[in-house]
Amino acid sequence: MKATRILLSACILLPVGVALTQTSCGTKTASGSTCVAPAPAPAAKAAPACASTMFATYKQAGFDAVNAQIVKLATQTSLVPAIGDSFQTDIVAASTARQTEFTTNLEDFLIVAFGGPNNYTGPSMVNAHAGLNITSAQYDAFITQVVVPALTTVGVASSDISNCFAPVVTDANFKAQFVTCQ
Ligand code: HEM
Repeated sequence: MKATRILLSACILLPVGVALTQTSCGTKTASGSTCVAPAPAPAAKAAPACASTMFATYKQAGFDAVNAQIVKLATQTSLVPAIGDSFQTDIVAASTARQTEFTTNLEDFLIVAFGGPNNYTGPSMVNAHAGLNITSAQYDAFITQVVVPALTTVGVASSDISNCFAPVVTDANFKAQFVTCQ
């Protein structure tokens, strides 16, 4: 998998202005991968103060429930290609041990991002998503069709979704860690 990732991530090094087809953007498995690097993200905004209180509000059980919903939705084939096919190729097709590692890492990451204890031992977001060719539209679809429905399903208050959860994951600088393809 590492070799594939290195090969695919080479696309972001291509010079701007070179005529490229973009058919492989958001597609983990395409051969001859080509994509165009997105524009640099604007400066990060400060996270709202309430973001750091979300773990205290919803506690471990709340994050367990949200995380389970995110994983369930993200791995639904019906969301391909809205969010790309990388969950299918990298997670659904992976061993049970790897699926458990991914699920644990995702939850630990969310817990840190929203004010909980730091138990995250996974890769950086840039490294975890390098070579997946995620587009801006796919990222936005992930937030609106996976993350927000997951929060809503487990009963997170809509005011908390809008005011505390959403600003963190929609911040352009945060998003830029994931999006490598226009
Ligand atoms: C379109 C959007 C996204 C796609 C397609 C995507 C896909 C993936 C995939 C396939 C992996 C596993 C990479 C590997 O093979 O090692 C991964 C890792 C990870 N993703 Fe995402 N991701 C997206 C957005 C997000 C967002 C918004 C977050 C957090 C708010 C996130 C958090 C993580 C974390 C913590 C990992 C590391 C877990 C691990 O690999 O063990 N991802 N992502």
